[in-house]
Amino acid sequence: MFLKTGNVENQRIYNVVDNDFRYAKVLDSFGVNFYKCGDLTINEICKIKGIKKESLLGYRISLDESFDLDFGTLENSPLNLVIEYLKHNHSYFIKNKLPYIKDLISNLDIEDKSYPFFEDLKFIFPIFYEDFVDHILEEEKFIFTHIQNLSSSRVKGSDHAKLFFALKNISLKEIADEHMNEDSEMSGIRGLTKNYSLDNIDNLHLKVIFQELKDFDNELEIHSDIENKILFPRALELENLISDKIRNISFLN
Ligand SMILES: [Fe+2]
Ligand SMILES: [Fe+2]
Repeated sequence: MFLKTGNVENQRIYNVVDNDFRYAKVLDSFGVNFYKCGDLTINEICKIKGIKKESLLGYRISLDESFDLDFGTLENSPLNLVIEYLKHNHSYFIKNKLPYIKDLISNLDIEDKSYPFFEDLKFIFPIFYEDFVDHILEEEKFIFTHIQNLSSSRVKGSDHAKLFFALKNISLKEIADEHMNEDSEMSGIRGLTKNYSLDNIDNLHLKVIFQELKDFDNELEIHSDIENKILFPRALELENLISDKIRNISFLN
């Protein structure tokens, strides 16, 4: 395989990360903090840590290979697959993306008075993290489970009394409206970082944090779009269908 990574091997880690922030993540995955060894070259760090250079460069390339399903594919997929895909996103956010950003933020040591917002970011990020985990848990525990129950009742047919009460107690319409209208969880961080603008930011560690936050924000927007434009409309359709069915059954009885 031809590695399109340019000639990074002999460059200093500082320059490599400055040109391409994703190398910070690559190095982190191999147990290397870019901010602790910016003066070493990639070749040197590979030797010191016993890392295979090809693996490191190969991993960088793999980060550009998207395994995401596009919107059109998901629109035409069964509801259960859409839910599995959303759960997969959740686990990637919680187990991979956010712990990495959290680590970057907590390891940043800035004395520079030109970044007064940084103390606020250090304070606000863990709060955002906690709220975000709550949002995900609620979706998985209650909303997705309810939709999956509706969906499987359509295939298998099931306890109509149980479904009747579930439909009575959970209003998908309210949940969907609330989800659609709520501000992005990232809005506070967007404001604080002036929309992740790198203008006037010289510190490389901070630049990487901003770029990672922006990247996560974009991924979260796509994720929420799938929930708002595919999951909820389809679930509401299903809810109507099943409500009609139950009404007909009780009418016939
Ligand atoms: Fe979600
Ligand atoms: Fe959501």
